[in-house]
Amino acid sequence: MTEYRVLHISDMHLSQVRPHNVRNWDFCVAKIEELQPDFVVVGGDMVLDDPDAADDHAFAHAQISRITVPWRALAGNHDVGDTAPAPYQGQLVSNERRKRFLSLYGADYWARDLGDWRLIGLNDLIFASELEAEREQATWLAARLKEWREKPIALFLHKPLCLDTLSETVITQAAVTPVGRSRLLELIADSDVRLIGSAHTHRHRNFLCDSIAMIWTPTIGQVNQGFRVPRGGDQRTGWIMYTFRGQEVEWELMHFPELQPVDISELVKNYKAMRFVPPALSAALS
Ligand SMILES: [Fe+2]
Ligand SMILES: [Fe+2]
Repeated sequence: MTEYRVLHISDMHLSQVRPHNVRNWDFCVAKIEELQPDFVVVGGDMVLDDPDAADDHAFAHAQISRITVPWRALAGNHDVGDTAPAPYQGQLVSNERRKRFLSLYGADYWARDLGDWRLIGLNDLIFASELEAEREQATWLAARLKEWREKPIALFLHKPLCLDTLSETVITQAAVTPVGRSRLLELIADSDVRLIGSAHTHRHRNFLCDSIAMIWTPTIGQVNQGFRVPRGGDQRTGWIMYTFRGQEVEWELMHFPELQPVDISELVKNYKAMRFVPPALSAALS
């Protein structure tokens, strides 16, 4: 039986000026070349910190484009802005910020069929945004799900759909908001969504929610021990490799000694955000 290997890699946070994550990225590019997965989900937060930093976008896109196997990218909050009501650094997702992502990476929602499975990537930053793009994505998703009603689906988002349960009411930058979550759940209610892969929290967790496997891929390098939410999880660097075979899926959390954690806790404490960190201090971390 044909099997398909899909790599879920995320939170690269790349910048030429503040290059502390580039060494780990170089390793990733070489390792992907060696492993030759059938597809790579690039899980978002390609850029260092500021969604309006044009140079970081150009550099990050050039770096991601070094991947030599088929790949698609998801938008992260650092790429297109964050969700209401308390977006990171006050930078809300907008048409303008999203447009830059589209010009670099193509559509921010996409489907890829691998045997019996359909993989669907969504832009969760526009969930509950009330932007026209939210409605367009929902219409597109409903059509893609209808075509695949009897077969398994793997969804990929940037932020986790929830921290613990689908009915939780907490509003946090760490996960999709309750309104965004309920809109998505309504859309997928009649479909066979088996797993939801996400990133964003820079840590691995996996748990079941109403028979859907929630699988959080870790970061390839940048860690912030100062983040208090969400609690727990495995903050070691790495990625998730999925193997899709028939109607089954297996996944493996992979770590590599070459992926050295880059701890930005002190810098964020001192400078509030990585965009304000003197470049020399970033370079000293790598
Ligand atoms: Fe991130
Ligand atoms: Fe993120």
